[in-house]
Amino acid sequence: MTQPIATRKADADRLWSTLRSMAALSEDGPGVSRLAYTRLERRAHDLFGQWMTEAGCSVRVDPAGNTIATRPGRADGPAVGTGSHLDSVYNGGRFDGIAGTMAAVEVARLLREAEVETELPLRFVAFAGEEGARFGQACCGSKLAAGLSSRRELDERCDRDGISLAEAMESVGLDPDLAASTPWCPADWSAFVELHVEQGSVLDSAKIDVGVVDLISGSTRLELVVTGRASHSGGTPMRGRADALAAAAEAVLVAERLALDPRHRGTRATVGRLTVEPGSITTIPGAVTFSLDVRDIDADRQRRAATEIVGRMRAVCLRRGTRLAVRLLADTSAVVLPDWVRDEVTDSANELGIPYRVLTSGASHDAQMINRVTPTAMIFVPSRGGLSHVPEEWTDPAKLAVGTDLLVASMLRLDARAAAATRQATTRQATTPRAATPRAAGTRASQASHAGGSESRGDQA
Ligand code: GLV
Ligand code: MN
Ligand code: MN
Repeated sequence: MTQPIATRKADADRLWSTLRSMAALSEDGPGVSRLAYTRLERRAHDLFGQWMTEAGCSVRVDPAGNTIATRPGRADGPAVGTGSHLDSVYNGGRFDGIAGTMAAVEVARLLREAEVETELPLRFVAFAGEEGARFGQACCGSKLAAGLSSRRELDERCDRDGISLAEAMESVGLDPDLAASTPWCPADWSAFVELHVEQGSVLDSAKIDVGVVDLISGSTRLELVVTGRASHSGGTPMRGRADALAAAAEAVLVAERLALDPRHRGTRATVGRLTVEPGSITTIPGAVTFSLDVRDIDADRQRRAATEIVGRMRAVCLRRGTRLAVRLLADTSAVVLPDWVRDEVTDSANELGIPYRVLTSGASHDAQMINRVTPTAMIFVPSRGGLSHVPEEWTDPAKLAVGTDLLVASMLRLDARAAAATRQATTRQATTPRAATPRAAGTRASQASHAGGSESRGDQA
């Protein structure tokens, strides 16, 4: 006999084996390297699509390269969605993004096995190009889905080989013109829940299996170029040099010092990439290019910190006889997630007897873009030792299964809520003299269910 969904649990072994198959799609080298808008990323999306088709969903790829699997409900109408991303940073881990996407696969499998019919459709999404590692900009696929990227931006953002985002998209068969002009339609969605690994140590330290996110940090990303004077390392006296690397080294410490200042408590500043030219043992460095990533849950503090760091770096470079050029790569504000969707998740956790902690996210997530399309919540599962973006990244599959149990319960709750809102809207229409078409009824219902969210979305910094 088919088990009712309430007593059916996510299968930790199956989740782990699915996740491992996905992680195997990687470039050579330590950890997982599957960069945004590469053939390898598309192969991962194909595999996700294949698994979702087997789980009874119909699968399509949107113009931005996001793969969307739809599971029909009893009626058509605004869907509850879940999903995450399948690309990685250079030499990243097996769980960042992949955990949430594999949890989506597990949800689809569980619902099929338990023969659960939802009121309205469910959608499972693998987002394209979430990591900012290649193009500087995070959440490329979800940002396009939210209608927040212009066509020009796709030409302007380039990777370290000078390939633009638009060119990379074309190289994997996507059409950037279409991608920038075809956002998702909010009326098609009632809510979205992304599961992700925490990438911090709050849950691991507190020994709590699940986190529910209230706020996602923003980030200001810059590319800085220090230009000095290259010359012979033996022939040039120490005094009077314009050593671009010595200036850059001091500039890096300026960023660290400012973020450690108690006035900037909560700000995180990182220089993660630095290239020295000409890069020769026997030549004084003539130019250094480096990145700066400033993150905060307070958008004003984040931008003030970035401005102050750049000002102090300029002073360092001036004192050392070098020049500093600064280019903005990307800039996003922190996002407050709507409390009513979070309440549905925490109510589900209480119902299942799963202890949880409400916490903020220091990392960027597709959820922060999708929240502009439909009210969105996030579930975190613990990262061992708080490590992420490294091959050692680890989440216990049993804890991923607990998070998946919470995900499926939350989606079913949100589905019931969206169906009730749809029924109410239909009743209202039937009793008003100028009744709209059934399609418009769906649209209104979804707007009704957005109302709680739009208030919260107004909170976005
Ligand atoms: C995504 O992982 C980010 O860089 O925050
Ligand atoms: Mn991620
Ligand atoms: Mn990441």
